[in-house]
Amino acid sequence: MAHVIVRPPWHLPESAITPESVYHRRREFLRALGFVGGGLAVGLPALSQAAPQAGSSPKGPAFNPGSRNPEHNPTLRLSDESVAIGYNNYYEFSTTKTRVRELVGKFRTDPWTIDVGGLCEKPMKLGLPDLLAGFPQEERVYRFRCVEAWSMVVPWNGFPLAELITRAKPKPEARFVAFTTVLRPEEMPGIARMPDYPWPYTEGLRLDEAMHPLSFVATGIYGKALPKQNGAPVRLVVPWKYGYKSIKSIVRIEFTSKQPSTLWETLNPREYPFESNVDPQVPHPRWSQATERVVDTGERIPTLYLNGYAPLVGKLYPNRKV
Ligand code: MTE
Repeated sequence: MAHVIVRPPWHLPESAITPESVYHRRREFLRALGFVGGGLAVGLPALSQAAPQAGSSPKGPAFNPGSRNPEHNPTLRLSDESVAIGYNNYYEFSTTKTRVRELVGKFRTDPWTIDVGGLCEKPMKLGLPDLLAGFPQEERVYRFRCVEAWSMVVPWNGFPLAELITRAKPKPEARFVAFTTVLRPEEMPGIARMPDYPWPYTEGLRLDEAMHPLSFVATGIYGKALPKQNGAPVRLVVPWKYGYKSIKSIVRIEFTSKQPSTLWETLNPREYPFESNVDPQVPHPRWSQATERVVDTGERIPTLYLNGYAPLVGKLYPNRKV
């Protein structure tokens, strides 16, 4: 893959800019019902049948947004929802951000299974009902910074990745976690257009990064089930790293002793290294990372080290050289 020319589409027109809208806080379901903190029960019935949210399938589990966790950036202005769900990077469908949403129609996201395995004592297969009802759901407002120097502020619904990892019981020799996106070329038209890419899309974290309380498994956005273009039915969100680490539509989580290869690092390790922490002092080889463009307003603002999460995650990187 060393000869592949990587052309992320940062040159695309910004046609999706719309004014700020108000985010409507969704109701709390599980907490009120007293289910929060319960153990994983594979096959638990869907809980919020009484009030299914947009995005739930008629037969599948009802989506549960949880309640807003006030510890996570409660005062940040949320990006406009229509921009967050209409300006997407999902190369399996298209490299044109505003086209992704139009091309996801055939993509089946229900039923869905995540295979958790590798160096762990409790490998498991998790269906959507397990993810939605078997883990304590909450909403978190996170900054989101793409390597292409644009940013958003997004309310995600889901649960901390550490909850899932703890249940899998990684073995002492596990040092990394590898994530894989589903590979369905027949439903994902972008794959055939880029046959030289090392599909499926893969990403990875060090185990201590994955266990950090900020690392989040998202099943929803803006209080609704994830739209397909945002990585339905389940994706990762790692808010202190560039957005490409936040892998979409995950089907495999594997504990490894060696650093796993990732799609972007395989394509271009100099531009997209494994760690990929947001750092305004480390320019991308072809552009500065000192500032970022707020996608829905067009405003340019300074980029913060670790995307503003340094007080929380900075200790993971004691050897930062800059
Ligand atoms: N995951 C997969 N499987 N395929 C992708 O192309 N793009 C990444 C990341 N996860 C990508 C992916 C990049 S570059 C970014 S910036 C974010 O998803 C974009 O997430 P969003 O569309 O929800 O804003």
